Amino acid sequence: MAHPVFDNRVTRMLGVDIPIANAPMGGVVNPVLVAAVAEAGGIGMIPGSMGAAYASGFIEDMKARTNRTFGVNIPVSFSDPSIADTLQEQGIRYVTTSTGPVASFTAKLQQGGIKVFHVVTSLDTAKQAADAGVDGLIVEGSEGAGLRGATEVSMMVLLPLITGHIDLPVIAAGGIVDGVSMAAAFAMGAEGVQMGTRMLASLESSVHDNFKATLVATPETGTLFINRHLKKPLRVLRTRTTEKYEFATEGDAFMELVRGVPRVYQEGDMEAGFASVGSSTGRIEDVAPVAEIIRRTVEEFGAVIERLGSNHLRR
Ligand SMILES: Cc1cc2nc3c(=O)[nH]c(=O)nc-3n(C[C@H](O)[C@H](O)[C@H](O)COP(=O)(O)O)c2cc1C
Repeated sequence: MAHPVFDNRVTRMLGVDIPIANAPMGGVVNPVLVAAVAEAGGIGMIPGSMGAAYASGFIEDMKARTNRTFGVNIPVSFSDPSIADTLQEQGIRYVTTSTGPVASFTAKLQQGGIKVFHVVTSLDTAKQAADAGVDGLIVEGSEGAGLRGATEVSMMVLLPLITGHIDLPVIAAGGIVDGVSMAAAFAMGAEGVQMGTRMLASLESSVHDNFKATLVATPETGTLFINRHLKKPLRVLRTRTTEKYEFATEGDAFMELVRGVPRVYQEGDMEAGFASVGSSTGRIEDVAPVAEIIRRTVEEFGAVIERLGSNHLRR
């Protein structure tokens, strides 16, 4: 089973061949990267974090590059409600909502025929999303890059807990970089995966080459949380600059470091601010094209599933 053919609730609901999404990372993903995911059969995701006008331009660019389906993320707390109208006018069929109250966009988007998956980080937030009528969940473990839930629960506990209690299609996000980690997520009930850090280190990503080389060189211990005391933890690359904020009990490191972020991402000066990076950076060994990342992941996924049955069970 080296080339598995996927057929589950996520592939059927979203109309894709391969249930692997790129994370909707503002300033990191670009139309070339997202179109490469869609063309490989995966779930191409556009960031809505840069506003409705930016998302609209991105969508137009995507339509010129691919006939395949793709989705958009709405970070609820930072978004103007008008973005929902923009996405409907543009014919978008899939939206993920994150960082905010689940109910605020769900019904409006669904009335326009859009499938809505909400990002959750605990069983309680997953139940709230299910009660609000979402079509699916993005379950984010604390291993992942960027803003995490107020409480930190790792994937190994969170994912089987949620899939064991809630009957909705789940896409797992956090720590997934290859077929082994994808198979582990599927064993725990996921029907799709979303990759952030792995896609940061793709050939197509917009970050500076030094950022990508740093991801390849960084061990699994090379990330830390800032802003735990504000109950808004952010997982970032461990540097001399960010280390100063690891155990802070006051202030807002995000606001203090955010000015340097363009220099980190675009100029590759890793000490200038913070870089959102997941601990899976320790498992990334190369910078590869998106199509290659997806192809390798799918092949390894098939091999792992086959091996598990034959290595451990007497038939
Ligand atoms: C630079 C960056 C920006 C991100 N922006 C968003 C965002 O706007 N909305 C969102 O839902 N998730 C965002 N994420 C989180 C990812 O969607 C994803 O959950 C996370 O990266 C998964 O963990 P991984 O990095 O281990 O793959 C971002 C992650 C990174 C690295």
